[in-house]
Amino acid sequence: MRSIAELLGDQSILCLSYQNHKFMRGIISNLFTSNSMDSAIKYFDELVIRTMAEWQQKETAVVLNDAMKITFNAICKMLISLDQEEELEALQKDVSEISEAMVAFPLKWPGTRFFRGIKARERVMKALRRKIDMRKRSSDYYEDFLQSLLARNDIQNEEPLSDRQIEDNILTLIIAGQITTASAIAWMVKYLDENQQVRETLTAKQLELQFKFSGNAYLKLETLSEMSYASKIVKESLRMATIVSWFPRVALRDCQIEGFHIKKGWIVNVDARSIHYDPMLYGDPFEFNPSRFDVELKACSFLAFGTGGRTCLGINLAKAFMMVFLHRLVTTYRWRVADRNPSIAKWSIFPMLRSGCPIKIAPIATQNVIP
Ligand code: HEM
Repeated sequence: MRSIAELLGDQSILCLSYQNHKFMRGIISNLFTSNSMDSAIKYFDELVIRTMAEWQQKETAVVLNDAMKITFNAICKMLISLDQEEELEALQKDVSEISEAMVAFPLKWPGTRFFRGIKARERVMKALRRKIDMRKRSSDYYEDFLQSLLARNDIQNEEPLSDRQIEDNILTLIIAGQITTASAIAWMVKYLDENQQVRETLTAKQLELQFKFSGNAYLKLETLSEMSYASKIVKESLRMATIVSWFPRVALRDCQIEGFHIKKGWIVNVDARSIHYDPMLYGDPFEFNPSRFDVELKACSFLAFGTGGRTCLGINLAKAFMMVFLHRLVTTYRWRVADRNPSIAKWSIFPMLRSGCPIKIAPIATQNVIP
């Protein structure tokens, strides 16, 4: 945990203890308004459409690579209004060094992965500090999380946030949101490829909706709420992929769970993957079956986004991004996965497909054979 705090910062919501965590969580959760969500979804949709249009020139597209880039760019736009290609590329490189350092041995010697992560953090902090200073000096208005956090400091009776609190949590939101969502998108495409019946049902439903939405250029929360089958596919993919396999909790007092005595201060790891594959909770757990979500689940049986006071704050955004990608993919292309190897990449905090999930594509409007 100490090494994570060195990389994300000790003010990161992921590193705060009970009372401070509650304070920071309240502030961050207020940033996910329906307006900010709709703007982020629209921007994500624009990027997906643009990227998929570029696929026309290719025979193969690597879903994970493009999903990483699109998700990163959409989150940076939402947080700090960053849309300059060069700055985005430099930041993405640093952020991926920080993520890799999170699973490395915490040895701060030049040349080690951890050291490279610490250096990358220093560069990110410097860039964010520059941005904050510029915002404080300028009278321009930006519609992003950074602006809302700075504006909050002008409100009387609100405990102000330090620049460091803002910086650490912007970095945290990027790291918590990018790889998780992009990786989930790649798994979802893989599962769909392996389940033709589900895929055909989905494609028919989405094409029908596409016709219905044809007046709207971009997707938004309201339109996504009509995609109930796609939403079940997202959930089933998240269950099967279980991107965050386990998460820790510290016992605040002595307690007893199912006969086990847990003492105050003990760390308990919740094993989400075992719960997602428990046949008592999910019949035929290895089968990809979105319709299992037709009925209500038992409490605490779906843990893709955790549970309780530390439940993922990006839950609705992540689901929306996945649905947008899914909708655009099946309504634009006929496709098949070119490499079905399920091996997992090294040096990743979350299970990521090593192949990146390459797909062969042909525009849906043509009868071309998929190469
Ligand atoms: C498919 C994508 C995602 C998955 C699977 C995921 C999963 C999780 C999980 C399991 C946790 C820990 C919950 C716990 O300890 O109970 C978490 C925490 C968190 N996630 Fe996500 N997440 C995703 C996307 C996002 C996105 C897009 C954002 C924001 C941009 C985000 C922001 C956060 C934050 C800030 C926390 C810490 C919450 C707290 O400590 O109060 N996540 N996420």
